[in-house]
Amino acid sequence: MPITVPLVKKWKVAGGDVAPLVMVTAYDFTFAKLAEAAGMDILLVGDSLGMVIQGQSSTLPVTLDEVIYHTRCVSRGASRALVVADMPFLSYQISEERAIEAAGRLIKEGGAAAVKLEGGEAITKTVRRLVELDIPVMGHVGMTPQSVHRMGGYKVQGKSNSLDGAGSAQQILRDAKGLEEAGAFCVVIECVPQDLAATITGELSIPTIGIGAGMKCDGQVLVSYDLLGLQQNTHRPKFLKQYATLGDRAVEAMAAYGAEVRSKQFPSPAECYGDPIIKAA
Ligand code: KIV
Repeated sequence: MPITVPLVKKWKVAGGDVAPLVMVTAYDFTFAKLAEAAGMDILLVGDSLGMVIQGQSSTLPVTLDEVIYHTRCVSRGASRALVVADMPFLSYQISEERAIEAAGRLIKEGGAAAVKLEGGEAITKTVRRLVELDIPVMGHVGMTPQSVHRMGGYKVQGKSNSLDGAGSAQQILRDAKGLEEAGAFCVVIECVPQDLAATITGELSIPTIGIGAGMKCDGQVLVSYDLLGLQQNTHRPKFLKQYATLGDRAVEAMAAYGAEVRSKQFPSPAECYGDPIIKAA
């Protein structure tokens, strides 16, 4: 059965016999097919592509056209999974009109079924407007990578219980509730203490999808390149579990290919076409 926005919207794990949602990032057709074959529920074309595909040090330089391009590639490989596209930095903060146009392009040109925006109370007006226009919105609260400069790095948020302050537990709870009220169909919670994520999950009627947010969320998300261990020698946050070391396997495979070419073992007759006999004139 295809995963749809209405299906995700009522996906609450607590008190039911429901398995958590599984979301993973995808940036191209081949990975989308692999993720589909692995039974992933949601494919997120994350602006993390700036770091894992482009080698940038943050997600901030990623452009709308780049996300549209990658979303189009992913959409072609997805049949069951829901495709969600990230709205990159400055594509929704300047004005509601710009946000509508950007989100519309991700749906119309990229083929996404929904868009994801970072932020809470500060963006609820925009979220409400998008939802009114039939553009489904996934929220994203807690550690929001587009706010890296305000946060002073990629740091766990919500450790302070004070009522104020952008990164306080109370503010993150208000952010998540504001998104629900504005019509978001689910909310990603990134890098917060597990008790805070559990409280938010309990207070919302829409599902939460955690990354570094503990065990009580209604779903989990990881960056595909991280869980597959594709990147060698990069910082590994505490929340990340690597399920494979494909980076090492890829280096081994390419080194074996290089060695065989240099020693003239590849190509062997098995990899050659039978040539027509060229007769001298
Ligand atoms: O861009 C991304 O990959 C994300 C996930 C980490 C949630 O936003």
